[in-house]
Amino acid sequence: MSPAVLTVPATHGPAPGDEAGPDEPLTTKEGWRRFVDRQPQPPELLSAAALGGLSARERAAYDDARRDYHCDLPLVSTPTIRQVITTSRLLIQLNRHQVSARRGVIISGASGTGKTTALTQLGRTHERHTRKRYPEDRYRLPVLYVTVPPAATPRMLACEFARFLGLPIPARANMTDIVNAVCATAARTRVELVCIDELHNISLATRAGAEVSDTLKYFSERLPATFVYAGIDIERGDLFAGTRGRQIAGRFTVLPAAPFAYGTGEQRQVWRALVATLEAMLRLHAHRPGSLVALDEYLYRRTAGMIGSLSQLVRGAAVLAIEAGTETITRELLEAVPVDHAAAQADLIARRGPRRDPAT
Ligand SMILES: Nc1ncnc2c1ncn2[C@@H]1O[C@H](COP(=O)(O)OP(=O)(O)O)[C@@H](O)[C@H]1O
Ligand SMILES: [Mg+2]
Repeated sequence: MSPAVLTVPATHGPAPGDEAGPDEPLTTKEGWRRFVDRQPQPPELLSAAALGGLSARERAAYDDARRDYHCDLPLVSTPTIRQVITTSRLLIQLNRHQVSARRGVIISGASGTGKTTALTQLGRTHERHTRKRYPEDRYRLPVLYVTVPPAATPRMLACEFARFLGLPIPARANMTDIVNAVCATAARTRVELVCIDELHNISLATRAGAEVSDTLKYFSERLPATFVYAGIDIERGDLFAGTRGRQIAGRFTVLPAAPFAYGTGEQRQVWRALVATLEAMLRLHAHRPGSLVALDEYLYRRTAGMIGSLSQLVRGAAVLAIEAGTETITRELLEAVPVDHAAAQADLIARRGPRRDPAT
């Protein structure tokens, strides 16, 4: 895998749920459309002379804009994102002429490995391509994005589909009504890709979970669309077990979302390229290019190779650098940024070795 794959910045990242404000989450067609439309420009760095000419108020506004930008840095095009997009878009084409037994994709991996990001970037890419192809057709909704709610029932899941499409759900409506309305609308608006996140919220071991899985299967048979799922460690869960599971497994390609590795020289190069891409996105006045890449080993230790933790660390340090006025990311500043619990545990083990049970 060539490190060059990491050098193309993708678009700005979604913060699913809060991307479009509380009234327009990504799981509604309005919120989704805003996410697809969004193309923010990085702020320009002023020269020292221009900076000196700013009033205190202008300087505060300038720093504020840069702080916002660093809080939500553009995404990096990772191998996972590229693979998800290539595979899924190929399946969309193959499935177009398929009456049944359409094939799908499952993105599976630990939390924080970029599954939601890959899924939403896939949806965004496909929708932008479709718009280019049919510029006149404003009623098309090529992509539907829903998340499986915790402890979902079939009705809750069907309601998620309906909510994305903006269909009113009368209290009296039964499952068949909802499913029929969803399928009719999806057919009319030419939904071609259905993205379903948080698939791990379904457990086939429970009756409700099995029913939800059947509902998904039913949707996938009735909607002439390609289904792409994302969830935590799906292949290790029970979703592929039993008769139902084997049916699912037979039709889906599992694409793993894994932490970056650091064992071999090539893996290390890929990691360094990832750090370099993030570093190139910084808009700090005193940051020396290459000084973040030089900390690659430290960054790996802090994050255990998780892109989510790395992004948190770099974004946090950039914000601190602006606030402190130092305008550069140093190791001391990185130390001040908290990462998530899983990455912190891995770091602790790397520094001290695994904890041993004193009794044995
Ligand atoms: N390609 C990427 N470039 C930059 N940041 C990323 C990328 N992928 C994920 N992230 C960041 O990592 C965090 C976790 O990503 P997410 O997609 O939600 O992971 P998951 O769904 O696997 O838990 C998010 O803050 C996201 O912005
Ligand atoms: Mg996720």
